[in-house]
Amino acid sequence: MSDRPLFLMTDPSAFEVSYRINPWMRPDAWKANAAERLAEAGSAFAALRRALTELGSQVETIGAVRGLPDLVFPANAAVVLDGRALMARFRHPERQGEEAVFRDAFRRLQGRGVLREVVDLPEGALQEGAGDAIWDARRRLFWAGYGPRSAKSSLAAIEQTFGETVVGLELASDRYYHLDTCFCPLAGGEVLYYPAAFTPAALAAIRARVPEASRIEATDEAAEAFCVNAVNLGDSIVMARAPASLKARLSARGYRVTEVDLAPFILSGGGAYCMTLRLDRESRPAGTILAAE
Ligand code: ARG
Repeated sequence: MSDRPLFLMTDPSAFEVSYRINPWMRPDAWKANAAERLAEAGSAFAALRRALTELGSQVETIGAVRGLPDLVFPANAAVVLDGRALMARFRHPERQGEEAVFRDAFRRLQGRGVLREVVDLPEGALQEGAGDAIWDARRRLFWAGYGPRSAKSSLAAIEQTFGETVVGLELASDRYYHLDTCFCPLAGGEVLYYPAAFTPAALAAIRARVPEASRIEATDEAAEAFCVNAVNLGDSIVMARAPASLKARLSARGYRVTEVDLAPFILSGGGAYCMTLRLDRESRPAGTILAAE
């Protein structure tokens, strides 16, 4: 297998905002201009894919399915680590039809050797994939969001499936309903996060593990622009159009920000991270030197 990062994305040709399962979703705004929005979504998708490939990644694309517009957010399909995929179970009926489509896609990836194993959650456990379970390569643990979408009971399933530490973070607001909308661990050990999205206990858990010098607090403006929902590859970060102040703070820490105009997807409550799913992540990549702790 190649050592280039490998992402899954979904063809956006059946994307629309036709229902409202989070406060950002505006079916009216979509409908008022559907054809134009769809064309913009196509360009935004292509620009994001290009940004990732220009940084050396490979992108697998799965086909669109009419009637399943949020299939464009494959971060919610599964939690993937070490070739093992733990398939999601969605809270809202509007997205439950995606489960079978993603399962088929993952079985095909398994057939090609891209994945080793496809695992199901225990009966009844709700968990919305990597949107709510973010691997922190630096600390070698999962940060797992719960509350609005994923259930607290899913944390144990993640821990059992992968045999890794899971730090649960309860989300306090339905605007930041997936962890990936308000939390992004970076390669250098920093965490870009939006404090207002978390319960006091979750904030304490973050602050216990991430020293103050490594905590980058997103402003309201940056969080609302879906900039925390970012894809980090080494010292590069791909995100939606960002406030200048955020770009300046990240560049002062040595990160290069690539912005992509993702407006049509933000109208559904999603940004760069959730339009992708990283498939090649390994808990202990070859050649890593184990840091003395
Ligand atoms: N409309 C989608 C939903 O509400 C957006 C999902 C965005 N995904 C994410 N991981 N933030 O489910």
